[in-house]
Amino acid sequence: MRLVLLGPPGVGKGTQAKLLQERLGVPQISTGDLLREAVARATPIGLKAKTYMDAGELVPDDVIIGIVEERLAKPDAREGFLLDGFPRTVPQAEALAALLDKHSIPLDAVLALEGNEETLVRRLSGRRVCSSCAATYHVDNAPPKVEGVCDQCSGSLIVRDDDRPEAIRNRLQVYARSTAPLLDFYRERGQLLTVDASGTAAEVFEAVWAALNRAA
Ligand code: AP5
Repeated sequence: MRLVLLGPPGVGKGTQAKLLQERLGVPQISTGDLLREAVARATPIGLKAKTYMDAGELVPDDVIIGIVEERLAKPDAREGFLLDGFPRTVPQAEALAALLDKHSIPLDAVLALEGNEETLVRRLSGRRVCSSCAATYHVDNAPPKVEGVCDQCSGSLIVRDDDRPEAIRNRLQVYARSTAPLLDFYRERGQLLTVDASGTAAEVFEAVWAALNRAA
């Protein structure tokens, strides 16, 4: 399965990508996670990306396209992948199409998760991530067993810099301006599946699975 997960910040792309990864056995490729790793390792790309990310702005297309191309070339992506957070602009979508065409690899579907602004803000402002292993929690919807402590590695849970109110506001505007046009881009190509993501993570996963099966 080769899938793109599309949708506004906080709608649950990462959460659903992890569930799909378990079910399908193909890797989740999250450009947000790849960038955060680069920031943590203070690589040249990480140092360049950090200012954009903290402000909720998009990292320049050429940087992101290079990262994705490199990641898709790894052996674990040969049998399939779940792109989470890429593409996010029309030039990125065009670059992905060109890359897949070059290798004669078809994209099975683009799954757009939908949620209203109130839900998105609630999910983003309540999100906590492990500073050590990057596992994701939510203070109300998916709390850790012990407050502030990661269930998986006992690392401390923190608020992402871009989950602060000003950055959230900006990310939502950037999504509307730069990423929402991709819905038409993929709809016109007959590749778009939309799923209401307002339910619980398990309910959304059921709807995602049903949509993928209907389209297969
Ligand atoms: P990225 O990390 O991709 O951020 P995002 O798209 O804004 O997505 P999020 O990770 O915030 O949300 P999500 O939809 O994955 O939701 P999640 O499952 O975590 O990108 C960060 C930054 O990197 C960008 O701003 C940009 O600067 C840069 N970047 C990345 N890709 C780029 C690209 N292609 N081009 C340029 N720049 C790029 O869920 C959120 C919370 O809600 C969690 O707490 C979760 O537990 C909870 N939750 C999830 N689902 C449910 C549910 N159904 N019910 C209740 N709670 C739920």
